[in-house]
Amino acid sequence: MENNKRLIITIIAVLVAGYTSIVSAQKYPFELPKLPYEYTALDPVIDAQTIEIHYSKHHATYVKNLNNAVKGTKYEGYLLDDLMLHAGEYGDAVRNNAGGHFNHALYWNSLSLNNPFDPHNEVGKAVMTTFGSLDSLKKLLNKAGATRFGSGWAWLYVTTDKKLAVCSSPNQDNPIMDISPERGIPILAIDVWEHAYYLKYQNKRVDYLNAILNAINWDAVNKNYTEALNSELLKKIKSKSGKQ
Ligand SMILES: [Fe+2]
Repeated sequence: MENNKRLIITIIAVLVAGYTSIVSAQKYPFELPKLPYEYTALDPVIDAQTIEIHYSKHHATYVKNLNNAVKGTKYEGYLLDDLMLHAGEYGDAVRNNAGGHFNHALYWNSLSLNNPFDPHNEVGKAVMTTFGSLDSLKKLLNKAGATRFGSGWAWLYVTTDKKLAVCSSPNQDNPIMDISPERGIPILAIDVWEHAYYLKYQNKRVDYLNAILNAINWDAVNKNYTEALNSELLKKIKSKSGKQ
């Protein structure tokens, strides 16, 4: 009964505020959010086994380790957003696992075979104005992911000046974090850790990037974009990064 109640509350919250926002607003004990589709939903771009291992083992472990890192400390009362915003003040366990939890939630949220780019919605218009075309944006994201040495992420993010930009970050860092040289709110996440693609693409990261950039959930990215523009978090990042 308690589980049903929690599921209903989660579904309502996701409909109201968006999948990624729910994770951002979590505090200890953090929870693995329900995957927004079946393991097979992204096949053939990403195979079901990769999704299952990635979600139920890798993402779940970040959540478990984040709880272990925060348990019994003053950070138990902190929202995930605030843990990331002040990541440089804590040890690597909080930084890596808070990032690992948020980044993977955004990654799942970023992917779909059924929500193509729309140049007329809010993020579509911003993409066209900023990058000139969807292809130009894809090239930048592909380059950001392909040139990230070792493990990390490629991002489309909203800067503190409310512009769109592309960057990459190492390990489980992201632009929300105070330790990141690029600051803002990511709205589209591409995981370039080998565990995201190795079973199907082996060492061919560029092939994975080419495929996954045609499997973006642009409806979700649009929602993330409009939420980020008006969020308190963006104001906090701006004030903390020293920009007025
Ligand atoms: Fe991952």
